[in-house]
Amino acid sequence: MKDLKPFQLGSTQLDNPFFLAPMDGFTDYPFRTICKRLGAGVLVSEFINGLDIENQHPFLQQKIYFSEDEHPFGYQIFDDSPERLLLAAQYLREFNPDFIDINFGCSARNVTNRGAGAGLLRNPSKIAAIISTLVKNVDLPITAKIRLGWDNHNLNYLEVSHIIESEGAQMIAVHARTKVQGYSGKADWDAIARIQEAISIPVIANGDIRTPDDIDKVLQETGSSGIMVGRGALSNPWIFQRKYLEDIQPIERYKVFQLHFEKMLSFYGKRIGLILFRKHLHSYINSEILTRPQRIELFTQTESSGLENLVKQYIYQNHFSPGLNSPF
Ligand SMILES: Cc1cc2nc3c(=O)[nH]c(=O)nc-3n(C[C@H](O)[C@H](O)[C@H](O)COP(=O)(O)O)c2cc1C
Repeated sequence: MKDLKPFQLGSTQLDNPFFLAPMDGFTDYPFRTICKRLGAGVLVSEFINGLDIENQHPFLQQKIYFSEDEHPFGYQIFDDSPERLLLAAQYLREFNPDFIDINFGCSARNVTNRGAGAGLLRNPSKIAAIISTLVKNVDLPITAKIRLGWDNHNLNYLEVSHIIESEGAQMIAVHARTKVQGYSGKADWDAIARIQEAISIPVIANGDIRTPDDIDKVLQETGSSGIMVGRGALSNPWIFQRKYLEDIQPIERYKVFQLHFEKMLSFYGKRIGLILFRKHLHSYINSEILTRPQRIELFTQTESSGLENLVKQYIYQNHFSPGLNSPF
């Protein structure tokens, strides 16, 4: 098993550079806490829109909340304007994160159409302006998350990485796909290796790290300083312990489900917490084993006790052959 080596990011030592990827709608305070408990080494917020900070969006405080035990923790922000990104970073800096990450990788049309996220990959001089403005005016490490380019004909990841490094950013996470690829095809880990070779700041490998075996492979193939897992953590939050979901005992699965569910209810309130939790059910139950009526029953529960009972039953069904005694 290949180990991750600690490295320094500003004044923070990253002892375990195994990142939970920022995921809008998923990596909120409750889910981050679960991943931390299961071994995630660095946490990043969902991306935060500079406009939402400027307008003090009603849900902003909930979105930016993080707790002291989440360190090392970074906020990720996105916008097309260097000035608004600076205001956003200065606002968030007051909450004492360990770093501020800029999103140059989001492929969603509503983000790229305004020239933000991966839209900025088509405008490297603006990337330079953003990084240099933030580095000069914010006393925290500034980091970047990029894709490989806009499309296969415009793979400018080496140019962009050099710019990001030379303007003073201290780390780059690379989702090894283009904007046009979205989430299709395979992440190009060779490109990550090329970036890590070309620059001196730490590179964090991201894209298609789904299993404990993938972790060894990506470290071997890229020589990256760290790794970042997104969807793999949604389907198996135990990936941070380098374990397969099938190897997690039902009691442990149920305990973590309960903790996560309780955190969602107390963070968002009972009604909204339960509704928002539905998208996390896949972390605990393989819903493919459920019949259609079972799935409908599970995803339409409106009572927390009802949901808990069903999850208990399905985790058991998932793990044991019929006829064995339930461990609960
Ligand atoms: C539901 C979802 C939301 C995402 N939101 C963000 C985001 O807010 N910021 C960001 O940089 N990337 C975001 N991403 C991209 C992930 O951080 C990651 O780069 C991508 O999923 C590839 O990694 P993976 O194969 O480990 O999932 C999101 C991905 C998903 C699936």
